[in-house]
Amino acid sequence: MSTTPKLIDSPTAERLPMTLPRLAEKKRLGEPIVMVTAYDYPSAQIAQDAGVDLILVGDSGSMTVLGYPSTVPVSVEEMLMLASAARRGCSLPLLIGDLPFGSYEVSDEQAITTALRMVKEAGCEAVKLEGGGEASVSRARAIVGAGIPVMGHVGLTPQTSTALGGWKAQGRTATAAARIASEAVALQEAGCFALVFEAIPSAVSEELMGLVEIPVIGIGAGGSTDGQVLVFHDLLGIRDGLGPRFVKRYANLQQEMNDGVTAFADDVRARRYPGPEHTYSIDPAELAELQALLG
Ligand code: KIV
Repeated sequence: MSTTPKLIDSPTAERLPMTLPRLAEKKRLGEPIVMVTAYDYPSAQIAQDAGVDLILVGDSGSMTVLGYPSTVPVSVEEMLMLASAARRGCSLPLLIGDLPFGSYEVSDEQAITTALRMVKEAGCEAVKLEGGGEASVSRARAIVGAGIPVMGHVGLTPQTSTALGGWKAQGRTATAAARIASEAVALQEAGCFALVFEAIPSAVSEELMGLVEIPVIGIGAGGSTDGQVLVFHDLLGIRDGLGPRFVKRYANLQQEMNDGVTAFADDVRARRYPGPEHTYSIDPAELAELQALLG
C-alpha cells in the first residue's frame, strides 16, 4: 500500500486533512487553492463536502450571520461561538479563525491570548489577522512564535476601512501598491503561512506574486493568485443585493428560502399543512379509553 500522501485536487479524490505542507505543495504544483468562509455547522459541512481546501471563519460573519453593519463590532466571544460551530461541521479543510477588530492590536500579548483562544476553545488550526503595518507584522510574528500558524491579509482590510477611505479597491497608485508589496513581504518574513490579497488591481497582484513565496489567496485581486476565496453568503446569494464587483453568484438561496417559508406560511393559513402523512396515530382502543377518561 502506498503511503505517499495524495493532494486534494478534486472533491472525489481521496481526501486527507489539509496541512501547511500540503498547502505549500499545492502552490508548488500550481494547483488552485479554494477557500470559502463558513460560520456554522451546516456551512462548514457544505464547504467540506464541496472539497474546499481552506475554511475561513471570517469576521465577515459579523455582517452575514450576526447582522451588524460592518466587521467592526463582532466580539471574540461571538467569533468563538461561530468558529466552534464550524469546527463541528468539518474535519478535512484547514480551519482558520479571523481575529476580530480590537482583539490583537493592543499588544503582542493580547494577540497571542486571542489566537490561543481561537485554537484551544474553538478548535481552529490557524488564525488570520488584517494589515501589514508595523503593529500587524509584530502581532503575526508573536503569534507564529507561540506556535500558531498565521494568515496575513493586505489590500482592502475591512476592519480599518474607515482609515483606508472607505470600502474600496486599494493599491491603485504606484505608491499605494508598493506599500502593499512591502506589507506582503514583511508578513511573509514574520512567518505567515499564507496571505489574502483583497480588492487590488489584478495587474498589481501579478507584480506582487513575484515577490512572495507563500500561498496567496485572492478576493477581488484577479486570477494570478494561488487561490480564490469568496464569502459563503455572497456566492450563494444569501443576502440583499449583489455585493462587491468581485463576487460571482452561484445560486440565489435567499430567494429560495423566502419562497420556502412563504409556501409554509400559505399552507398553514390554508390548513393544507399538516397533512395526514405528517401526523402520529393512536390505537383506537386507547383513544376510546382516553375519551372516557376525559368524560
Ligand atoms: O472575513 C472575511 O470573510 C475575510 C475574507 C473576505 C478574506 O476576511
